[in-house]
Amino acid sequence: MSDKKAILHLEGKQAEFPILEGSVGPSVIDIRSLYAQTGMFTYDPGFTSTGSCESAITYIDGDKGELLYRGYPIDQLAEKSSFMEVCYLLLYGNLPNKQEMDEFNHGVTYHTMVHEQLTNFYKGFRRDAHPMAILVGVAGALSAFYHDSLDINDPEQRRIAGFRMIAKMPTIAAYAYKYSIGQPFIYPRNDLGYVENFLRMCFAVPCEDYKVDPVVVRAMDRIMTLHADHEQNASTSTVRLASSSGANPFAAIATGIACLWGPAHGGANEAALNMLMEIGDVSRIPEYIARAKDKNDPFRLMGFGHRVYKNYDPRAKVMQQTCHEVLDALNLRNDPLLQVAMELEKIALNDEYFVEKKLYPNVDFYSGIILKALGFPTSMFTVLFALSRTVGWISQWSEMIEDPSQRIGRPRQLYTGSLHRDYVPINQR
Ligand code: CMC
Repeated sequence: MSDKKAILHLEGKQAEFPILEGSVGPSVIDIRSLYAQTGMFTYDPGFTSTGSCESAITYIDGDKGELLYRGYPIDQLAEKSSFMEVCYLLLYGNLPNKQEMDEFNHGVTYHTMVHEQLTNFYKGFRRDAHPMAILVGVAGALSAFYHDSLDINDPEQRRIAGFRMIAKMPTIAAYAYKYSIGQPFIYPRNDLGYVENFLRMCFAVPCEDYKVDPVVVRAMDRIMTLHADHEQNASTSTVRLASSSGANPFAAIATGIACLWGPAHGGANEAALNMLMEIGDVSRIPEYIARAKDKNDPFRLMGFGHRVYKNYDPRAKVMQQTCHEVLDALNLRNDPLLQVAMELEKIALNDEYFVEKKLYPNVDFYSGIILKALGFPTSMFTVLFALSRTVGWISQWSEMIEDPSQRIGRPRQLYTGSLHRDYVPINQR
């Protein structure tokens, strides 16, 4: 806390508010006493100027295009670390030593199986159900199976719930995929790493095992690292709000998955690839750029723009490089979608509309091309985002529960409806 104060002059009265300073980034005006002092609320739809919590997990500088997990720059983590190590870092605040890493890996690995009864849930879905619909349902249904980790006031139960969520999400996600293509579920294998295991559960069949390509594993690991956390974004805020009421962690994560599904958030990777396929050819790019700029056309360039980044999304840089590596390794260098993507990026980055509004490619612009090259259908893209973001949701959830200032989240409103009026019986209306 600093000694600085913000002073609000209002109709001849004065109200004072403390200014809180973080380790880096904008300070915040603590307005918790605003209503008591002035009888007014603040108004900030879309929360563009509102800090909803104190957090020590992820830091973003949108103007610089910087993203840090627990202080470590995302490009260093994507280059040198691994998704499992990043999970540990996000959850516990520091990089693990060898023993801590081994124990963590073991803990996650030995929670990857799901209760056999849970697999019956899948059969209730239509085969053509979107895998995100299945994921929302099955993740929420975990609350019905793991009664011994629902008490959020017990640190040990919280720890196990976190492990369960992180460990079972690949299994649940892979089963959603398998169900949609009519193939039998493949059980996890404890001798494989997290990413290998997930890929095998997606692509192996009982009559033929899946040979895991290290380039594919590395790419998938990076994609997961880049998506692991992103401060107080819509789905994370949803998880925090849902759990602020004391809801159990599995139900809370299901709300995060639901929120992530939207095309303005996690659904953008699927939408971006669909858009590239729709454009289809470099010659049609100007038509789509014109549509994106037309105020009367709801079309937006998917994979462009970000609420916080007003500079290149640092994740998009790593993603672009990974995309080239994967397509080279898989001999897909001449992929027409990549050609369209690269040309679209070039044109948009030089177009006055995009430059002026600071609309840069975001993480989802390239991830779809990589995921398609790895063999995933577009409907699985947001599922993979959810799988990667689960650790972020769990870390933010744990931090919130441990925060002594935590209360139920309960925003207020600016009411513009009718004034008090008396009920009129139907025959007199
Ligand atoms: N194409 C064309 N115009 C755009 C785009 C775009 N992709 N994004 C923003 N704009 C325009 C928008 O029309 C508005 O113009 P004006 O000021 O003239 O009305 C201006 O830029 C500001 O846009 P906004 O909607 O007020 O900005 P926002 O911060 O509310 O929205 C966003 C951020 C990410 C939802 C938006 O940029 C968007 O819809 N992008 C496409 C979807 C997408 O790629 N989402 C993935 C985000 S990254 C992954 C994640 O975190 O989930």
